[in-house]
Amino acid sequence: MQADSLSAARQAFVVHPVREVSGEVRVPGDKSISHRTALLSALAEGSSTVKGFLLGDDCLATASALRSLGVGVDVEGGDLRVQGVGLDGLRPPDGPLDLGNSGTGMRLLAGVLASQPFASELTGDESLRSRPMERVANPLRAMGADVETRSGTAPIRISGRYPLKALDYTLPVASAQLKSALLLAGLRARGRTIIRSPGRSRDHTERLLRSMGVAVESRLDEVVSVRAPGRLKPIDTEIPGDFSSAAFFLVAGLLAAPRGLLIRNVGVNPTRSGLLSIVEAMGGRIETRARRILGGEPVADIFVSRSELRGIEVPPDWVPLAIDEFPVLFVAAACARGTTVIRGAEELRYKESDRIGVMAAGLRALGADVVENADGLVIEGGKLQGGRLDAQGDHRIAMAFAIAGTAAREPIEILGTEQVSTSFPDFGRIAAGCGLGIETTTVGGDG
Ligand code: S3P
Repeated sequence: MQADSLSAARQAFVVHPVREVSGEVRVPGDKSISHRTALLSALAEGSSTVKGFLLGDDCLATASALRSLGVGVDVEGGDLRVQGVGLDGLRPPDGPLDLGNSGTGMRLLAGVLASQPFASELTGDESLRSRPMERVANPLRAMGADVETRSGTAPIRISGRYPLKALDYTLPVASAQLKSALLLAGLRARGRTIIRSPGRSRDHTERLLRSMGVAVESRLDEVVSVRAPGRLKPIDTEIPGDFSSAAFFLVAGLLAAPRGLLIRNVGVNPTRSGLLSIVEAMGGRIETRARRILGGEPVADIFVSRSELRGIEVPPDWVPLAIDEFPVLFVAAACARGTTVIRGAEELRYKESDRIGVMAAGLRALGADVVENADGLVIEGGKLQGGRLDAQGDHRIAMAFAIAGTAAREPIEILGTEQVSTSFPDFGRIAAGCGLGIETTTVGGDG
């Protein structure tokens, strides 16, 4: 049998050059906030209702792990309803909890399970099983849990301990996933858990805990601390649109919206929206309109217009505030005038794929001039050609290259796009709705 005939069929996007994108888009609910509302409302006493929960595979995996832990979770009709069991009410699962592609789900759940008086195992897909987990296992061990990884990666086996010991801990990287895992463990620790970070990172967990009645203290967003509360109050809330999903349309608008593109109801929490500062420094024309607060988070409508972008040096301390937006920022940089330098972004190598290596390869396949360094890229702006590239199963890389289709000379074929459903199941339809020439197809297989 030919090797080819054994290869699995792969989903692909084919994106044709277009002259213009326009109109209005709405993106689905924020992934980070969706994970956190599901987890924390599971630990609350009573029932919570959450509008705008992201029905992407990652958040659905967290919801299903919670069901396996004995929590009533219902996601019918786009609203999440959770019957919280209280801080002491989780039940031992029957088998391993599979978090699919989701690093957030795995690391935050590790923080919850560290204090449960039972054994559990967290696993995931091939990409998740290759991502670093000692960074979360180490401090949880120091708090008293028994945590085993397989050579530093998942599966993670946890035998929880209650109560945990509070910890004063300095994170090795400015990571909101680690900070959140330790805050969640700190909810069931004796004493005050203090987490120090080398930089700011997204603060959704702190905001949500406060709205559930927990006194989380924070100083300059870089030192946060918590003590075990008696209980968490259930919530009735709405999740804003995901800035990281909006970022694709923001760049599409900068590249190809002479009449402007409006992205409605986007979360613009300053610990998430660093891309706005970066593209503004590049000359991007962006207006944030109708600023308001939704579910304790700042929200706005973003109006973006075609702009003459120029290359810049991105300040390294802005990196954690735009960490998930680099794939699409790299595309913007490749279409700008002049050189863009990104440094201090080594963390990108540990995401759903090695986002420095995979983006460099993809941009080169489209004719861009890119130098790859250990902690970033130097990108010479110009005109992208068409071509074929592989997103290596990384949702954000697949969507970033689809946006490159608004500016390239020839069609772009992007292989390995199935994981787009982890964060943005409707991307293809919404992108086509504002004018992108995108088709979803299947390539290869044994047929
Ligand atoms: C996330 C934090 C970030 C981000 C990820 C979601 C979160 O990871 O890349 O997509 O929800 O806390 P790190 O905290 O590891 O940087």
